[in-house]
Amino acid sequence: MALYNDTVMEHFMNPQNVGELENPDGTGTYGSPVCGDMMQIQIKVEDEKIVDAKFKTFGCGSAIASSSMATSMIIGKTIEEALELTNKEIIKELGGLPAVKVHCSVLADKAIKNAIYDYAMKNGKVYAALEGYDPNEDEDEHDHDVPEEE
Ligand code: FES
Repeated sequence: MALYNDTVMEHFMNPQNVGELENPDGTGTYGSPVCGDMMQIQIKVEDEKIVDAKFKTFGCGSAIASSSMATSMIIGKTIEEALELTNKEIIKELGGLPAVKVHCSVLADKAIKNAIYDYAMKNGKVYAALEGYDPNEDEDEHDHDVPEEE
């Protein structure tokens, strides 16, 4: 059985939205704590709608496929809708990723949220989904049981 399905391969071989925007309204970067790879995603916003998005990455093929899919998914969405996007949905749209490659989709998910966070900061916007959001926090940390300090 092939490791990657046709949708993943298609987005890896012919990725959508690669590059940089000329005048982005928000730029988000994120480095994976798992593999050390980096992702940058930029968004263009008009009337609270994401009208364009581009990505650049040092990540692997799964990161490329995930960002290609993720940027395609958020273009045309409102900011609020885009904030609801999770890496699970990206993986679902891709038709699945091998378990060891799930973290690669987190790069796209976090970089999008960080780009929106940047847009919100620059424009004084407040979104409920970003309340208490920390752009540098690692998603994985939520899974660990960190003992509370006294
Ligand atoms: Fe680093 Fe996939 S292994 S992004």
